[in-house]
Amino acid sequence: MRANTPTAKTNANKKVFIKTYGCQMNVYDSDRMADALAPAGFVPTRDAADADLILLNTCHIREKAAEKVYSELGRLRKLKGERAKAGKDTMIGVAGCVAQAEGEEIARRADVVDLVVGPQSYQALPEMVARAGRGERVVITEFPDEDKFDSIAMTPKKILASRGPTAFLTVQEGCDKFCTFCVVPYTRGAEVSRDVNKVLTEARTMVEAGVREITLLGQNVNAYHGEGLDGSPWSLAKLLHALAEIDGLWRLRYTTSHPRDMDDDLIAAHRDLPSVMPYLHLPVQSGSDRILQAMNRRHTGDDYRRLIDRIRAAQPDLAISGDFIVGFPGETEQDFNDTMQLIRDVEYAAAFSFKYSPRPGTPGALLDDHVPDAVMTERLHALQALITEQQRAFQESRIGRTFDVLFEKKGRNPGQLVGRSPWLQPVNVQAPERLLRTMQPVTITHTGSNSLFGDLAESDNHAALHDAQVMAQLETAS
Ligand code: SAH
Ligand code: SF4
Ligand code: F3S
Repeated sequence: MRANTPTAKTNANKKVFIKTYGCQMNVYDSDRMADALAPAGFVPTRDAADADLILLNTCHIREKAAEKVYSELGRLRKLKGERAKAGKDTMIGVAGCVAQAEGEEIARRADVVDLVVGPQSYQALPEMVARAGRGERVVITEFPDEDKFDSIAMTPKKILASRGPTAFLTVQEGCDKFCTFCVVPYTRGAEVSRDVNKVLTEARTMVEAGVREITLLGQNVNAYHGEGLDGSPWSLAKLLHALAEIDGLWRLRYTTSHPRDMDDDLIAAHRDLPSVMPYLHLPVQSGSDRILQAMNRRHTGDDYRRLIDRIRAAQPDLAISGDFIVGFPGETEQDFNDTMQLIRDVEYAAAFSFKYSPRPGTPGALLDDHVPDAVMTERLHALQALITEQQRAFQESRIGRTFDVLFEKKGRNPGQLVGRSPWLQPVNVQAPERLLRTMQPVTITHTGSNSLFGDLAESDNHAALHDAQVMAQLETAS
């Protein structure tokens, strides 16, 4: 029984709560869902209990992702019940990659769900909400021809401005690589690149709203081949060159890259464009040629080593990060040792590592010869210990160096600001609030486990101290 039918006309001041799981693309998509719902009268809230519409933007990449969604839905059922007692309606939707993979199944298993929407259909949200409000259970998981980004209004400048000086911008979505362990080609569909002019327009709007650092997103962002300003397909390198021309856009990053799509022009961009940050996330997954082949990665460990050498020749001061999977079916002790050797050879600044998790519908899930969980745990720990050591070494190598930090937000301690180094580590600095959203030279004094600590470099430090004294005087005067 649904009272208060929410339609486009009666949604004024309705609140939407979006919970985001998974990768950065989901973070970007969640903002776009909020944008899509804004014309229908929905404003975002951070409090689920206060929301008329709750959306779970889900991830399907590893084990039990769907289970997590079902248990969250259990909690939401209670919340919906409590709100109903207070006479309030609550609509619940599942979006993202679990929605795409499970579709109707979610609607069948969880009657608390009013709508299910796949990642390519967020432009349909206002209409779906209106239909669900009329009592219909709505499931949309098609891959429509129209580009979802075209039909969603761009994030208004005011909202962008409130989000700080860094932003994500999806330029490519989907994947045609079909690594045998991975669900992404099924949940996100075929690889699609957005046109250069659309990317540039969105980037300029972000910069006008005060964004100073943009991270270009794609499942295989370096396979980008969007229609260029001259009508021909442009590579990611060419897109970076065009973005680097935008005044006020200080920093550019991109993620995630596939080793096979790292072309010479992109490598050269790290040498030639100062705004392209010296950080590259380049997952390799395994160092064993046998396992790489079984994963359908289509390169060897040595191909990857040679590639890293070429990238470092162009930009010696580059931080490399990676992703690793331990325990892919058939992985022997020798295969694992090959992975450890590759890590020693490359020297990572950071990495994410996971136990292999069979995903329904992928070729990997059909393989026998599973690695026992205890062995996976042991390998994961050994790998993570090595990565931690390398990460520490990288961070310690920053001590005494002075480089720019873009201050993003206030730190945990009073008087502290936090920003990112060019190599993506958070840097904590005593600095006056007026330096938020600015980029300042900072000298690193020491490191924490995942972050750096430093002081404003000499000249600014004086200015900052002077500022702090003036502020203190003003405060005592008032
Ligand atoms: N497009 C990127 C990866 C996207 S998924 C690439 O090609 O590298 C992010 C990471 O999740 C992957 O790099 C992989 O390390 C991990 N991952 C993906 N599927 C997995 C699975 N079935 N089990 C464990 N880890 C997985
Ligand atoms: Fe998944 Fe492989 Fe595509 Fe990356 S390249 S998204 S791991 S299929
Ligand atoms: Fe997860 Fe989908 Fe991203 S499966 S990692 S949310 S593309």
